[in-house]
Amino acid sequence: MHAERFQVTPVFLNGRIVPREEARISPLDRGYLFADAIYEVIPVYRSKLFLWSEHYRRLERSLGAIGLTNPYPEHKWRGHLGTLIQQAGGGDLSVYLQVSRGAEESRDHHVPEGITPTVFAMTLPPLPPDPILEQTGARVVLLEDIRWHRCDIKSTALLANVLLRHEAGGKGASEALLVRDGWVTEGTSSNVIALRGSILTTPPDGPEILPGVTRELVLRLGASEGFTIRRERIRADQLIKADEIWLTSSRRILAPVSSVDDHPIGTGRPGPGYGRLRLAWLRHLDAFTTGAP
Ligand SMILES: Cc1ncc(COP(=O)(O)O)c(C=O)c1O
Repeated sequence: MHAERFQVTPVFLNGRIVPREEARISPLDRGYLFADAIYEVIPVYRSKLFLWSEHYRRLERSLGAIGLTNPYPEHKWRGHLGTLIQQAGGGDLSVYLQVSRGAEESRDHHVPEGITPTVFAMTLPPLPPDPILEQTGARVVLLEDIRWHRCDIKSTALLANVLLRHEAGGKGASEALLVRDGWVTEGTSSNVIALRGSILTTPPDGPEILPGVTRELVLRLGASEGFTIRRERIRADQLIKADEIWLTSSRRILAPVSSVDDHPIGTGRPGPGYGRLRLAWLRHLDAFTTGAP
């Protein structure tokens, strides 16, 4: 059903909305050849971009970190994405956007001057609710974090993430929590929060993790629910002592973890902390969707 609807979905390419089948990008694009590109995934509820300012700030930061000029001012981005959402039928979905350095003849590692970035955006259907995840929690495994040391840049260079997720899947897990020098960094496409007593701990921002937009919201909601927030490193061998572990991401929002490397977390089922945060999230979403456009 969704596949059919989204097959005819228009996409945004370099200032124009075109049918996806007609969108053409050069094979010499540095996004394709070098993953020389930045991306964002932004949830959309009732046709409204959710946490837009936070995603936009991170986009600007990532572009700046790789020396790419932001192709549009903020109001232009909003306008283009708003049109894309409208033409895709609106409702609840996600927007994926990507800015690459652009196409250039030489395929040289040297960063060329003055080429035009390629700007692409598309809508993605919402992930269907996963009753298994919500009722029984996610099985995760610990894997060595083999990624580069600038994971704070939201770059499309995701091969390590892809391979790690594949490895986790081969072990019957839905996500891998990554470990660098004995410390937990994050998931392959999620941040991690551990609850012990009334303390929510998450690794501090830095080059080893993506500063997740959803994590910030969940921490904010957690603080207003009375939890204490700590941004501290978590030792991988201490993780299983948590009462609860949650994964956060724009696409899944909040997912409870049932086990780490087959060790049950807490009771091995989604815990009461998760229940509270889920309700807080639903209230927040309700206020957002019923609020001013
Ligand atoms: C490596 C990684 N960490 C964390 C996240 C979560 O970030 P956000 O909540 O901003 O989607 C993602 C999302 O894709 C990710 O790829």
